[in-house]
Amino acid sequence: MTEPDAQALTALASATAREVGTHLLQWRRGQRSVESGTKSGPTDVVTTADHEAEAMIRERLLAADPNARWWGEESGRSSDTGAALEWVVDPIDGTVNFLYGLPGWAVSIGAVWRGEVVGAAVMVPTTATLFSASKRMGAWVDDDGHRSRLAVSGCADLSQALIATGFAYAAATRVRQGLAVGLLVSQVRDIRRAGAASVDLCSVAAGRVDGYFEGGLQPWDLAAGGLIAREAGAMVVERDDGSVVASGPKLAAPLQALLAEVGAWE
Ligand code: IPD
Ligand code: CA
Ligand code: CA
Repeated sequence: MTEPDAQALTALASATAREVGTHLLQWRRGQRSVESGTKSGPTDVVTTADHEAEAMIRERLLAADPNARWWGEESGRSSDTGAALEWVVDPIDGTVNFLYGLPGWAVSIGAVWRGEVVGAAVMVPTTATLFSASKRMGAWVDDDGHRSRLAVSGCADLSQALIATGFAYAAATRVRQGLAVGLLVSQVRDIRRAGAASVDLCSVAAGRVDGYFEGGLQPWDLAAGGLIAREAGAMVVERDDGSVVASGPKLAAPLQALLAEVGAWE
């Protein structure tokens, strides 16, 4: 491929996310308990399903282009062979929700072309909702067969804004994040902590929340959801340390100023 066919990459990501998401849902419903272990700390869980799903996704995506680079949360990043295409994948974003049988988890797949995300799919199997986007082609949601274009909310007033956030696994980071949320909560309509960063970004895209911020995220949390939010008209600011702020354009400046004031966006 000399130029990326972003829509073809998005179609492959979408079909794969849908297939693997459906498989995970059946797997989850068939299990009375989910076998799990931990990663960076005692609260950072990983299940056998995370590994199984990542292997399935990898097999399907690399079958289409065996030279593509791979970056998955569970299996890591393959060495740089100079390939233009890289898949950035979180097989289950929201593993704690998955573990507890809560609905807010997703399969997140981003197609990165020469360092830029050009195609994205985020599948939420429990509601049969597929979010997707291709660069410059808009963002879309397929809700159980009904396809519609996504657009961010027009909210401009912080006091009326519903803001999503999340917490890192590291206890010390959580304490800082919790203190910032404590200062923020009286300034906005309300706060949501749904449990999956990719879904939070899609919620911004869909106008289901007015803004979202979080720190300490990883490329696989952000790749797909970030493109979907941008293509729906969101201002998304990502920093190298994994912090992100996303909202409709009218809320961007006041939200960033408030986050800086409460110490959540220095
Ligand atoms: C986590 C989720 C969560 C966010 C954490 C992420 P995981 O991903 O996206 O919402 O707050 O920062 O690590 O571990 O469930 O893939
Ligand atoms: Ca994640
Ligand atoms: Ca994950």
